[in-house]
Amino acid sequence: MADYIIAIDQGTTSSRAIIFDKKGSIVATGQKEHEQILPKAGWVEHDAAEIWRNVQEVIGLALGRADLTRHDIAAVGITNQRETAVVWDKKTGKPAYNAIVWQDTRTQDIVDRLAADGGVERFKPVVGLPLATYFSGTKIAWILENVEGAREKAEAGDLIFGTTDSWVLWNLTGGADGGVHVTDVTNASRTMFMDLETLEWRDDILEAFGVPRSMMPEIRSSSEVYGTAESSSLLRETPIAGILGDQQAATFGQAAFQTGESKNTYGTGCFLIFNTGEEIVHSKNGLLTTVGYKLGDGPTHYALEGSIAVTGSLIQWLRDQLGIISSAPEVEKLAEQVEDNGGVYIVPAFSGLFAPYWRSDARGAIVGLTRYANKNHIARAALEAVAFQTRDVLDAVNADAGVDLTELKVDGGMVANDALMQFQADVLGVPVVRPVVAETTALGAAYAAGLAVGFWNGLDDLSANWQEDKRWEPSMEDAERDRQLRLWRKAVTKSMDWVD
Ligand code: G3P
Repeated sequence: MADYIIAIDQGTTSSRAIIFDKKGSIVATGQKEHEQILPKAGWVEHDAAEIWRNVQEVIGLALGRADLTRHDIAAVGITNQRETAVVWDKKTGKPAYNAIVWQDTRTQDIVDRLAADGGVERFKPVVGLPLATYFSGTKIAWILENVEGAREKAEAGDLIFGTTDSWVLWNLTGGADGGVHVTDVTNASRTMFMDLETLEWRDDILEAFGVPRSMMPEIRSSSEVYGTAESSSLLRETPIAGILGDQQAATFGQAAFQTGESKNTYGTGCFLIFNTGEEIVHSKNGLLTTVGYKLGDGPTHYALEGSIAVTGSLIQWLRDQLGIISSAPEVEKLAEQVEDNGGVYIVPAFSGLFAPYWRSDARGAIVGLTRYANKNHIARAALEAVAFQTRDVLDAVNADAGVDLTELKVDGGMVANDALMQFQADVLGVPVVRPVVAETTALGAAYAAGLAVGFWNGLDDLSANWQEDKRWEPSMEDAERDRQLRLWRKAVTKSMDWVD
């Protein structure tokens, strides 16, 4: 058998291809950012055609850097930004509209309309999610309601929907010429349309949203062969054998397979996932119920999730919109030049507030400003906002679980930031632990694919690959932590009830 697995990570800001060996170590990476299209306040779009071009390019980059060919690759895994909705014509492969990104809030009216009959928790007992602009369902409805000709084409069976896993898979397996139209259970669980128990689309919910069932991909497990790459691809004939939404992939890559295990991923947003095993647990504290993974015919593993919309993207905002840093890592240098936040708190409610608040009427706030405050304090407050939001979510997880987490496993781009991780441990009051391979998202997708083709034999092989790299112990006094949390929570209340 070939010696490597390639994972395609189609994320919010970039697409990457990462090649892993049997130990789960990175052999080579290719990465390319795509444009963030921001036509109006609250709207966020991606060009799906650009994303597909970038995916092909990064596959070539990674293979080239590792000096490998498709013959060295045993299988392909796909992981993706979840919820982002692509609707395309299956005869031409052309998107009907730009992809509407998970952060986009344009569908608030559709949310309100659906919630008028039964409230925002109307479908929650079945799908695990409250009605919110975050999930794919209202984004598909918006395209059908607002793009000329879309509804007719959808009803004629020509338009199909997918999150970006499906979009990449369909194109990779031949596109209009026989592309496979499939998603996995984890991505399906973010649409609002999948019944968590039966793992099937619900006709009654599709109907309430006005979405024809013919648009929906087939729901499959996270680890099985879905198809092979088509003949013009650099990966031709290689099986595509794993799909996991990026947060579930990171959980899998952290080897958090057992009930009670968890992880927090610091990317564009932050997502804390808590494995509840084979049990569907409904949160009483603002968390989502979601599918964790399902390997082939094996049992379904569920999870509770605390989703935070804006963390890494707050640092990008400092760079791109405010211009106070020229590259993301600079934020740490700026923040380190001051002893504390100078009384400044930033609540980055750019897309409203997600978990545990679910307040779509919230908008970003910077509070506590005095003439003394400078850009260093702003940088520091931005990093602290990441940690405070995680604390809020961890409190909800602890309340739902009935026991307190004793440490937090972390991963994602921002865990390279030492000051942030120390502050995170300080405000949580528990240790924060980073594994050697912090690219757990891509690793999780590689694992799912590798398991399906026998590259790895089972979960024990994967657990054996996990190694601790660094641990941050809390060092803040309890009274100081309480004071800061009090101010943070006061700041959160200031961001609420803002939308007219
Ligand atoms: O739910 C959104 C999430 O999947 C996006 O993740 O890593 O692209 O910010 P990321």
